[in-house]
Amino acid sequence: MCGIVGYIGDTPAQDYLMNGLHRLEYRGYDSAGIVTIENNTATLHRAKGKVVELDKLISEKSSNGTVGIGHTRCATHGEPSEVNAHPQQSGDIYLVHNGIIENYRELKAELKSHEFVSETDTEVLTALIDSFYDADTQLVDAVIQALQLTVGTYGIAVISSREPDQIVVARSGSPLIIGVGEGETYIASDASALIGHTDQAVYLNDGEVAVCRRDGIDVVDLASRPVSAKVETIEIDMQAIQKQGFDHFLLKEISEQPRTLRSTLSGRIDVKSGLVKLGGLNMTDEELRAIEHITIIGCGTAYYAGLLASYYLEHIVDGLTIDVAFASELRYRSFHLPKNTVALVVSQSGETADTLACLREIKKRGVKTLGIINAVGSTIAREVDGGIYVHAGPEISVASTKAFTSQTAAMIMFGLVIAQTKGADAKDTLPYIQELAALPAEIEKVITNYQKQIAEIATRYADYNHALYFGRDTLYPTAMEGALKLKEISYIQAEGYAAGELKHGPIALVDDSFFEVGLLIDNWLYDKTLSSLSEVNARGGHIFAITNSAKKIEAETVLHIDTKLDLLAPLVLNVAQQLFAYYVAVARGNDVDQPRNLAKSVTVE
Ligand code: G6P
Repeated sequence: MCGIVGYIGDTPAQDYLMNGLHRLEYRGYDSAGIVTIENNTATLHRAKGKVVELDKLISEKSSNGTVGIGHTRCATHGEPSEVNAHPQQSGDIYLVHNGIIENYRELKAELKSHEFVSETDTEVLTALIDSFYDADTQLVDAVIQALQLTVGTYGIAVISSREPDQIVVARSGSPLIIGVGEGETYIASDASALIGHTDQAVYLNDGEVAVCRRDGIDVVDLASRPVSAKVETIEIDMQAIQKQGFDHFLLKEISEQPRTLRSTLSGRIDVKSGLVKLGGLNMTDEELRAIEHITIIGCGTAYYAGLLASYYLEHIVDGLTIDVAFASELRYRSFHLPKNTVALVVSQSGETADTLACLREIKKRGVKTLGIINAVGSTIAREVDGGIYVHAGPEISVASTKAFTSQTAAMIMFGLVIAQTKGADAKDTLPYIQELAALPAEIEKVITNYQKQIAEIATRYADYNHALYFGRDTLYPTAMEGALKLKEISYIQAEGYAAGELKHGPIALVDDSFFEVGLLIDNWLYDKTLSSLSEVNARGGHIFAITNSAKKIEAETVLHIDTKLDLLAPLVLNVAQQLFAYYVAVARGNDVDQPRNLAKSVTVE
């Protein structure tokens, strides 16, 4: 949540800052600000609303300062407003912050000489640093003293008009990356801001503070002891973060799934030999054979990917038990995990605060953790014992689409690796491998052959305010993910339900203000789901059925998707749901890529 940028070099800082804020806007977009320093004088600009509002201010009054920091916000403490926007100021100090300072009330009560103007916890931290920043103290030391008293999460960048040749950054639970250029140093809370500027970066660890200068950086811990910083190469290309002719990132990301899924599968599955190989698990065959239980955690779409994968995993691995939990719930439960458990930690961004905290709770119990992560180098990816990078490329649109498909595929591959290590019969695992190999092309068919029809169907349902999604077995989590997609971007209230449960409550909702999305695949449960459909029909429902079956279905609208897949058909149907949600949101005139009240990566609780 929120985006941080910073620059110190020999060109006007505001160029990188503004460009970076636009790139990070998907992480928060209710207000934004930058401050630059020139000749010991700071120029501060802040605006409520999207970064474009800040653009308007900057174009009127630009600054040549070659050092500066910026921020795009997703409000936690204090409503979106200019005064609550970052950078926050106290004396000579300006600060941008991601995270939450939990003890800000106590700290504020002590800071009697500071006149607070905002409602933010960030201003409290700024004033606290300022309270230590007397004439004999260097900025970095004032920052360290303040952080020693701070409880909570933070990624911060701080500058002072008194010491304009440095930016001090620090992190605890909220990502911060330092880009190393030639005579220039860049700060970003997300690698996408650095692309095109430098591919060399230092990922700051929790508890570290760095002084960033034009010609290098010094990293210390909170006891001021030097820490050696490892410079890593970032591998994201510019195209990956551009719309490339699509109207929205969301449509681009839905459409690129055949390619991104191929990257997920590449070099890992082999239909000929019937084998699956995963390089980063860091587990011996003996450890894999010993697995008896898998616990899967995630939030939002990552959780639904875990839920869908759990149906496959218990089918693929004989005798395996599985549970799936919202990370935000499990982290506070007094949970026990059976021996020989492996935890799968699913996260697109690798930064979600609840997922990270839950990972740490699981690690305390001595359980092996594997990440199913998209963002390379992210905090969760660095803290797990091993894992599978899903390689779906940067996901910019707030609603997650391509990550879901790749995460599910990655977890299925993990199941296949366990099964094959435990000596499963190839005839049981090969169908999955064959279907995984065929999946990218089958998804491509949905995008190419059905998109127009789906866009037209979407216009018919765009004026409803309630929707009920239902399916059975693997289609139940698929229905929940479909409902989540619709509610996130169209603001239509949508619930995903197990088809068999409709009669236990939700069917009471059916009336003309609702439409229902029924998911069916032609398998042993087809007739049962058809019965649920009939029950809804009989009560005057407005059903949009999505199916891989060619059989005639009684429903207001039916989308027959021709696919040769059977086991993995839910992932094909899900792409149709993604397109449906997209076109409904477009028809309603919504901001598809940056829906209201949401942010791409929730790094606060
Ligand atoms: C936010 C996003 C969702 C995402 C969830 C989990 O709520 O808006 O799209 O599914 O976080 O994010 P993660 O990065 O952990 O997968």
